[in-house]
Amino acid sequence: MSLGRPTTVRLQRIARAYRESGALLAAVELDLFSKINQGANTEEKLSAALGISSLNAERITVACLGLGLIIRDEDKLKNAIDVERFLTKEKSTYAGDWMFFTQPDWEKWGRLSDFLKNNEPAKLDNETVKGITIDEARRYHRATFSIGRGAGRLFVRSVDLSFHHRMLDIGGGSGAYCIEACNANPHLKATVLDLPEVTLVAQEFIAENNLSDRIITHDADFNKDPFPKDADIAIMASNLPMYGRQAIQAVIQKVYDALLPNGEFHLIGEALNEDRSGPTDPAIWGLAQTLHNSTGMAHSITECTDYIKNAGFQSIDINEFVPGVLTRISGVKSSN
Ligand SMILES: C[S@@+](CC[C@H](N)C(=O)[O-])C[C@H]1O[C@@H](n2cnc3c(N)ncnc32)[C@H](O)[C@@H]1O
Repeated sequence: MSLGRPTTVRLQRIARAYRESGALLAAVELDLFSKINQGANTEEKLSAALGISSLNAERITVACLGLGLIIRDEDKLKNAIDVERFLTKEKSTYAGDWMFFTQPDWEKWGRLSDFLKNNEPAKLDNETVKGITIDEARRYHRATFSIGRGAGRLFVRSVDLSFHHRMLDIGGGSGAYCIEACNANPHLKATVLDLPEVTLVAQEFIAENNLSDRIITHDADFNKDPFPKDADIAIMASNLPMYGRQAIQAVIQKVYDALLPNGEFHLIGEALNEDRSGPTDPAIWGLAQTLHNSTGMAHSITECTDYIKNAGFQSIDINEFVPGVLTRISGVKSSN
């Protein structure tokens, strides 16, 4: 950061960032990026392809150019490379659904200070998932599956699963990690543990991927119910900020107690750095829990390492997973 006289530029950008979110979400909702890919590569063609006025086509195009989502190549519009890969529907890597994951909270963010002033005791049951309808679970996990498949593939590339027999995925959601792990390791079996409304949805994804004979689901509230005891590797991904310190420690203790001797545990979480000063993404995931009065918060790498050590795991290893977003912290259970 410049050491010169401060300006309001950075503050203004943060204050109005919601408008940038709005522009991105509208473009995805209109499927603007796929249309560009299909040849609607001028404002005029976009106006026709999207069925919007030429004035509005010009406005959204200019905004997307300003945000670097699209670029002008001579007189033709082109998608930026990340947009091309993740936001055009033709690609198997399409993650448009994930862009809308947090949208149900959109209106509440405008009233965050009211939520911060709420002094009622925080609830262990997290209302974003506990007691949701099956349709809500479907929307939620269409989103997590669209991003979780890539994360699952990254996990498979990062961790040797060749000598493991059964993987237990705590809060496994759509089953994305188990699906990718089983696809890459034909001998592996897996269990997706999640709330009952979610396991029904997981079964749909598992069946679509022809893995119903190797991946089973297990209905459980991981804060309250016992875990199956036949896994030699367990993972827990992308639910760290949903619960407070005590709850996360208790879940990891249950994982330790349930794993077979020499079993491995991988916590893939939105963890803050050691001094809790960032990155932004885990910090904001933690803040988001204010809107739901849950016990959730941002946990640091140091805290996560302590939870894993306190549970009894050894050989703790910390690895960056998705830079600035997710850290993978692992430990191994003793042999007896
Ligand atoms: C953001 S999703 C992540 C899903 C999956 N791990 C992934 O990375 O794709 C969080 C998951 O944790 C599950 N979860 C949260 N609280 C839970 C609880 N108390 N018991 C069981 N599952 C829970 C949710 O239902 C949801 O499927």
